[in-house]
Amino acid sequence: MALVLLRLIFLTIFLRFIAAQQTNGSVSVGASLIATPNVKPWLSSSGEFAFGFQQVQGSDSFLLSIWYDKIADKTVIWYPEEGPLVPTGSKVELIRGSGLVLSNPQGRQIWTSGPISDLAFGHMNDTGNFVIVGSNSRKIWDSFDFPADTMLPAQLMVRGGVINSKMSNTNYSGGRFQLRLLQNGNLVLNTRNIPSGFAYEPYYISGTYDAINSTNSGERVIFDETGDMYILRGSGQRFDLTTRGAVPSGDYYHRATLDSDGVFRQYYYPKNPTGNTSWEVIWFEPENICLNIRGNQDSGACGFNNVCSFDGNRPTCACPQGFSLLDPNDANGDCKPDFTPSCHEVESNNGRDTFDFIELNGISWPQSDYEHMNPANEQSCKSSCLEDCFCAVAAYRDGECWKKRFPLSNGRKVASANVKSFLKFRKGDIPGTPPRLLGKYKDQRTLILVGSVLLGTCVSVIVVLTVAICVGFFVIYKKKVRNTYPSSNAIENNLPHFTYQELDKATNGFKDELGKGAFGIVYKGVIGKTMVAVKKLNRLVQDGEKEFKTEVDSIARTHHKNLVQLLGYCDEGEQRLLIYEYMSNGTLAVFLFGDTRPTWKERSYIAVGIAKGLRYLHEECSAQIIHCDIKPQNILLDEYFNAKISDFGLAKLLLMNQSRTNTGIRGTKGYVAPEWFRNTPITVKVDVYSFGVLLLEIISCRKSLVLESEYEGVSVLTDLAWDYYLEGRLDAFVEKDLEALDDYKNLTRFVMVGLWCIQENSLLRPTMRKVVQMLEGEIEVAEPPCPGPLSVTTC
Ligand SMILES: *[C@@H]1O[C@H](CO)[C@@H](O)[C@H](O)[C@H]1NC(C)=O
Ligand SMILES: *[C@@H]1O[C@H](CO)[C@@H](O)[C@H](O)[C@H]1NC(C)=O
Ligand SMILES: *[C@@H]1O[C@H](CO)[C@@H](O)[C@H](O)[C@H]1NC(C)=O
Ligand SMILES: *[C@@H]1O[C@H](CO)[C@@H](O)[C@H](O)[C@H]1NC(C)=O
Ligand SMILES: *[C@@H]1O[C@H](CO)[C@@H](O)[C@H](O)[C@H]1NC(C)=O
Repeated sequence: MALVLLRLIFLTIFLRFIAAQQTNGSVSVGASLIATPNVKPWLSSSGEFAFGFQQVQGSDSFLLSIWYDKIADKTVIWYPEEGPLVPTGSKVELIRGSGLVLSNPQGRQIWTSGPISDLAFGHMNDTGNFVIVGSNSRKIWDSFDFPADTMLPAQLMVRGGVINSKMSNTNYSGGRFQLRLLQNGNLVLNTRNIPSGFAYEPYYISGTYDAINSTNSGERVIFDETGDMYILRGSGQRFDLTTRGAVPSGDYYHRATLDSDGVFRQYYYPKNPTGNTSWEVIWFEPENICLNIRGNQDSGACGFNNVCSFDGNRPTCACPQGFSLLDPNDANGDCKPDFTPSCHEVESNNGRDTFDFIELNGISWPQSDYEHMNPANEQSCKSSCLEDCFCAVAAYRDGECWKKRFPLSNGRKVASANVKSFLKFRKGDIPGTPPRLLGKYKDQRTLILVGSVLLGTCVSVIVVLTVAICVGFFVIYKKKVRNTYPSSNAIENNLPHFTYQELDKATNGFKDELGKGAFGIVYKGVIGKTMVAVKKLNRLVQDGEKEFKTEVDSIARTHHKNLVQLLGYCDEGEQRLLIYEYMSNGTLAVFLFGDTRPTWKERSYIAVGIAKGLRYLHEECSAQIIHCDIKPQNILLDEYFNAKISDFGLAKLLLMNQSRTNTGIRGTKGYVAPEWFRNTPITVKVDVYSFGVLLLEIISCRKSLVLESEYEGVSVLTDLAWDYYLEGRLDAFVEKDLEALDDYKNLTRFVMVGLWCIQENSLLRPTMRKVVQMLEGEIEVAEPPCPGPLSVTTC
């Protein structure tokens, strides 16, 4: 019975697939598409371009768009203005009299191509242009005339034409950057104000405006079918944007996109890719966006207080020390100070007791000056800033001093060492970089935890426990459908692959060991100019090859401020290595239990960061990831003490015989949830439990596990926390940490959240989303019940 049904389903899919292949690109009046995960798009006759709904990665929303359908990552080249996202069930329809109409499931119109009366049919052209043809066979509307962020060969831009960048990779509403062909003939790139649209000063000008003989000025931007892009002057002369001969010959896709980082790039991609392929850049403008944007009205290439650095190809924005992102999901956005700026109150002793400086090496904010002192020396420069409550940064160079105010704009990394920027901050308010933190990684190897044996594979357990035959059948069905129309979030990663030899060289023969964990040994290395951590994995489960690729793929797709970023990998013969970003401040274990107690402020910041990283793994990335091994040894700290979770996604790769062993953990509670010792399903709640233990450690700077021998330990922390909480003696729990006690309300809240997380009954534990909301005080925390019957103390 099941078999017959399965065949039927196969057949249906196969027929649909065939039908999809036999398109001539024509779309008849009345045709419509409904936004669902595997909806078949309208294909061009070659099948190279598709018009339809693309699911936005990690969400239930869809984007009406045109994309390259034969490229693995389905690169989007067009979407309606402002890229509205619509929910499942939304509809796009070609209606006589109305043209293309996008409406939500309630039938409300979201977007339309505009009223079109004598519409004959629609056509997805093989050029990537969606055309609405009138009854006189003439084009009435086409997507080329309403470009999103991309131009294609056969497309042109006339004077007055505009292309806006996207807000970010996943937000298609109009961003801060614009490409325009001005009425005077100049092609320019400029930033703009959102939402008014006011254009700021250009950061690139083609120079094709001829003031003396206006017939020589630029008239249109042409992207010709051979892949050359140029500005055509009135005189017929070409102003080349693409260097002639630079375009690879042969069969390539070409596109020119104003990326969300503000750089306009021409890309190519082979139509018949071999091996790992990605879009390659032929040229880009401007040359160095960090330096080229220098208007004094907006924030620069990055947001306010943010700092731009350029590696020759791409700009990167990073908040300077003492600042964090206003919107954590927008790394290019504004940064807010982690301290209360001055001029808030009358400062005693001219601010000398309240403020101090940190020196930010090689960072400059050239546009935020309000005073200039000349002559000055470094000392007088700093003094003057300290005594001036308006002063945010003192910059000193060659006997001159500039005082700068908030918000700082056009921040960029500068190579020249003689520029010194001193950031004024409230004492005790931001994590500094005391010398004790240097060289932390070295200590790490002595502290590698014993609890690592406890690791297990989440997946096998879930599968064994939950999959019933009918469920399995359903899964197969869904999978087949998805494989046939991989239209949506099949954004394949383009993770760099390295050879073993390259990594051997990068790590100097695997010489400098940073640490050792359950999965293998980590070595320090340098690739190009970037410091990296290279993890050499232990032998994997048999048949691990496919699994390795799948896991690496899913790890590579994760991007979050609180996760260690995977930069590349190697699988060669028996060798499996992962290359991660290098974390200069080592593990949380060393930071927390080292010789100096970190401040309460630092600790609470780190706790919230870890919670956000876990929330992302559980709820926000495309495939849910259960970490299975949250503990302070697996949390790393970057140079600004942002907590970053490491080793996620690896649990599945462990050797089978290492999984779910319970040697030596009888009667103890380390970081592992009670589910591990019972025959109950393993869910994301095991991570919530481990996070609870970790949170209590962070609050109290006490270790959860008192080790008695290599594998034997007694966990006292969870019981201790409950006891002290019941008795109302949090002062004893934090060992009279005055800073924490000063913040009693938050301290209590953090402890209560910790106690909720370590509930024996996994159903009582909150989700990580709720944990974050509770830690940040967005929602009230209820009185936690006794963590559970296994607790040795009486409840
Ligand atoms: C495409 O095919 C449909 C029917 O399959 C036909 O009516 C239409 O004329 C064709 N259009 C073009 C442009 O060839
Ligand atoms: C498709 O585009 C090509 C090149 O611009 C053009 O020659 C052709 O007429 C277009 N087809 C339709 C049906 O619009
Ligand atoms: C995109 O960004 C804009 C501006 O920041 C914001 O208003 C909008 O909600 C964002 N859209 C999505 C889908 O995140
Ligand atoms: C302006 O340029 C055009 C094309 O180069 C040329 O033919 C024309 O003579 C020029 N006019 C003047 C006034 O120089
Ligand atoms: C794969 O990608 C990497 C990094 O982009 C590149 O160095 C390497 O040559 C590529 N390999 C193949 C087979 O194309």
